[in-house]
Amino acid sequence: MKYDVNQLTLEEKIALLTGINEWQTSSANGKLPQIFVSDGPNGLQMFDENGVRKSATAMPALSLLAQTWDKELAYLDGETIANDAAEKGADILLAPGVNIKRTPLNGRNFEYFSEDPYLSGVLAREFIKGVQSRGIGTSLKHFCGNNREKGRRVQSSEIDERALNEIYYRPFEIALEAKPWTVMCAYNPVNGVYASENKKLLKGVLRDKFGFDGLIVSDWASVQSSYKALKATIDLIMPYNEDTLPNVKAALEKGYITMEEIDTCVTNVLKLIEKVQNANKQINYTKEERHENAVKIAKAGITLLKNEENILPLKDGGNYLVVGDLSKKPIGGLGSAYVQTDYEQKPIKELLQEKLPNAQVGYDKGACACADWAGANRVKLEYAKRCYVEAYGKDAVVVFVSGDTEGESFDRSHIKLKREYEELIENLLKYNKNLIIVVNSASAIDMSDWIDDVKAVVYEGFSGEGTNEALSSILVGETNPSGKLAESFPYDLDDTFTGDYAGDGFVEWYNDSIFVGYRYYERAGIDVLFPFGYGLSYSKFAYSNLKIEQTDKTDFTVSYDITNTSDVDGAEVSQVYVKDVFSMVVRPEQELKGFEKTFLKAGETKTVSVKLDFRSFAYYSTALDRWHAENGVFEIRIGASSQDIRLVGKVNIELEDDEQQSQAFVYYNN
Ligand code: BGC
Repeated sequence: MKYDVNQLTLEEKIALLTGINEWQTSSANGKLPQIFVSDGPNGLQMFDENGVRKSATAMPALSLLAQTWDKELAYLDGETIANDAAEKGADILLAPGVNIKRTPLNGRNFEYFSEDPYLSGVLAREFIKGVQSRGIGTSLKHFCGNNREKGRRVQSSEIDERALNEIYYRPFEIALEAKPWTVMCAYNPVNGVYASENKKLLKGVLRDKFGFDGLIVSDWASVQSSYKALKATIDLIMPYNEDTLPNVKAALEKGYITMEEIDTCVTNVLKLIEKVQNANKQINYTKEERHENAVKIAKAGITLLKNEENILPLKDGGNYLVVGDLSKKPIGGLGSAYVQTDYEQKPIKELLQEKLPNAQVGYDKGACACADWAGANRVKLEYAKRCYVEAYGKDAVVVFVSGDTEGESFDRSHIKLKREYEELIENLLKYNKNLIIVVNSASAIDMSDWIDDVKAVVYEGFSGEGTNEALSSILVGETNPSGKLAESFPYDLDDTFTGDYAGDGFVEWYNDSIFVGYRYYERAGIDVLFPFGYGLSYSKFAYSNLKIEQTDKTDFTVSYDITNTSDVDGAEVSQVYVKDVFSMVVRPEQELKGFEKTFLKAGETKTVSVKLDFRSFAYYSTALDRWHAENGVFEIRIGASSQDIRLVGKVNIELEDDEQQSQAFVYYNN
């Protein structure tokens, strides 16, 4: 079915450019089918007529998906959420989000992938393919520069051209390869102009430069002036806004907007309706299978950060104590990405006992002996004492902790654990040194006060309704952990570029430019607690036999062998970083340009191959206004993390003279 813009009256056209409510488009007086859009990135969030969330599969958060470094799982994640969407009647999923994790304080970090644009873009691309393979559309969001929640509706993200291209546009550019049906703009202004009205961003970059020909939807209530948004090529202003009709009509009368411009937007909405109509919505997983998919992704993303004396995996016959409510019901993030599941997770204590029938596994709620001895705190002290007594003499104590609350529309105020958990760890250590800390948070945590004193740390992130199944399986060694961090963990908030500075309320100057995440720490020479790409396994892996084959002027196939040298099967995420050895512009020490996750049986060797192309070597030249690769030597670094480089090779880029710029001479005074 094809819909014609000329069949609609002006009022019907304008009605089509906004919703009729939070989630649906207009029927234009019964002439058109309506589209239903729904959140979101971590599972379907959909409301019934009474505004109550419908139950859906709570998938691991995108931040946890990123820790899998697994393209197939990103596809599976998208596919699984699309199953719920198809079942519940949504047409478009408002996901994935690919905003860069510029600061660990950002309240929405759990909805995003990484501090690295390449990792974010590649996984988002596969996620989109997965969703759309089931006949459900996606909304790639939030374009762009929404990197903290504080001031998100007013504060301008002032970002230079190079950082926009290399860091902030880049994940969108890569994800667009999967042709998402829609893109959502950000709330904030970018360089002084609201993202929703930013013609350069939406028309100039998204449509003209990146070739996006789908529909651009506003973020919810991000539009200040409807006609300005439409002129900037926003097609759909969400949700319903009573000002849209009078505002657009008045603008048309005054000549601020033309009928042609309105028709272009309406045509994009009509095209989307056609797409939805022609889509073959498919459900290919039962509810139980969707849950299994959630568990599978959680198992692959949960990341082991420390494991001294191989305290993990726990052994059958041991005497263990599980401490903390979070072991019964792990938390997730709040806001539009919150998913209501009806799946009841079994407490960790029960799961461990099932898996280790000969072990003794106890549970204690745990509470801190808070500073003040008066009143209510005395009750807390009683709990605390009981917990310490329980912990005393156990072979290991598994302690569940979390950081400051994470969610949409607010940021974390610090990156330490909640104070009560810091105190709990400190006090438990007096009674038992064998602490295994499980961190239920979704962005970097400053662990500096206790990390040296505990035996193990497992970062479970926000891993959805399969958390406890996945985590218990890792704790007992049924599953070998294979997750790696998708963001650096600094020692301290002060070590991050922005620290606790969050802009002046009107402007935030991104004067870190392209030096975000590991690009910043490496340039500034700041040590981090856990680097980007880091994660432990119960296996050991050796890297060897690096070969680099040139297939075109700037195209290379990099291959290397990975051997599982241990007697446990496991999977290794290997990472390919590229360093420009000499450059005429400032460049990061190295940048991620490829990665692969490889499953290896005990003793097995496999050859991994990764392709590099022009963009692996190029930077965005503001002088040439395009990507540019300089002739010369580039180092190819193969790492188990950004700081654990195992193999190094070199390639020479030799482009034609007319593709190069004249180089500056260096004069020596001798
Ligand atoms: C969020 C979007 C979300 C939309 C609809 C906004 O507040 O920023 O990510 O898709 O609401 O819930």
